[in-house]
Amino acid sequence: MPAHLAGRAERALVLGEQVDLQWSGGDAVLVDRASDAAFRLDGVAAAIVDGLSVPTTLGALCERVRREFDVGEDECATSVATFVEGLREQGRADVLEAPAGVTKVRRRYLDLLARALVNLIYPEHELRVDHLEREGARPTAIAQRRLMRDIRYAHAEQFTELIEAKRDGLPWRGRPSPDAHTMIGLRRLENLERCAVRVFADEVPGDFLEAGVCRGGASVFLRALQVAYDEEARVTWVADSFAGLPEPSHPVDVAAGLDFSEPRQPWLAASLPAVRETFATYDLLSDGVRFLPGWFAESLPDAAVERLALLRIDADLHSSTSEALTALYDRVSPGGYVVVDDYNSVEACRVAVDGFLAARGIRAEIRPIDRNAVFWRKT
Ligand SMILES: C[S@@+](CC[C@H](N)C(=O)[O-])C[C@H]1O[C@@H](n2cnc3c(N)ncnc32)[C@H](O)[C@@H]1O
Repeated sequence: MPAHLAGRAERALVLGEQVDLQWSGGDAVLVDRASDAAFRLDGVAAAIVDGLSVPTTLGALCERVRREFDVGEDECATSVATFVEGLREQGRADVLEAPAGVTKVRRRYLDLLARALVNLIYPEHELRVDHLEREGARPTAIAQRRLMRDIRYAHAEQFTELIEAKRDGLPWRGRPSPDAHTMIGLRRLENLERCAVRVFADEVPGDFLEAGVCRGGASVFLRALQVAYDEEARVTWVADSFAGLPEPSHPVDVAAGLDFSEPRQPWLAASLPAVRETFATYDLLSDGVRFLPGWFAESLPDAAVERLALLRIDADLHSSTSEALTALYDRVSPGGYVVVDDYNSVEACRVAVDGFLAARGIRAEIRPIDRNAVFWRKT
């Protein structure tokens, strides 16, 4: 590692606010919105930039590169440090102040939490359930017990698909994971940290709120970010019917045939006790977590939420998305972020967002997170 970078080894490094990493057909592209430039990245550069999406250290970046590529320790340390220094000189990476060691431990906590929330810890269990649902259980058959034991190797192809679906937050075999506490995948969780880090660094006032929480995992992550970054005075608001989606009533939803209500999609409904339990499981249930049960049209307009630094909407329907935006958008502080799931994958949701922004004359720079979700910063 070059001597002038050695002191930075434990400081938090993060991608600049104006830089996005976008994936197109397996290719990684670094987009610098400030200079309107885009660069295709090779494998190592993509791994480094991907690692920098959330605050990290040079040491952690090197570990990641060495996990993916066959490169010696010293050579890796020098190349990573030089590449990151280049990004810093171009204004494409920032150093955040953090006491030595904190970044490292926080990185490990949040990465482990994210993997637990999407169920990358015991993923083969989902293969087992899928197999038993298809083939039926034969509890006494030794062959079946062996298959249950070795299923990730016996069904290696499905296992790979499952892991990729979890990274990208996509359904696997036509439904969200029955085990995961969130269906939004690793990339969208990382994006939440990216947004949170900026509002903390810029002291943007306000709480975090998720409208549409299902089993609660993304909201758990929002609260974990507040706790991990010593921002516990902010509240995490958790808004849901806790009974699934309403039946479609808005003409755009009806025309698109979007019926995600509980009788059709049982996996999209989770009760309030179940969501509270999820928070408790991760030791994150406290007064800093407040629940807003009920249909958005009734629960959100008069909710005791004053200011928001981060608003996450994940409600699938035109009606629900526009109800959440109408009730909450004005409470988002300047400099705060709005994240909308489904914008890139559900036409009705995109129409709701675009219609809301156009009706209010708001020019938002909408940025993709992945194939589903987008975000923008309120100016
Ligand atoms: C796709 S799920 C949310 C996924 C969740 N964010 C996660 O991390 O896995 C959609 C949620 O929105 C809720 N929802 C949709 N429309 C609603 C409305 N109008 N009022 C209250 N809740 C609603 C549903 O109950 C459901 O829990």
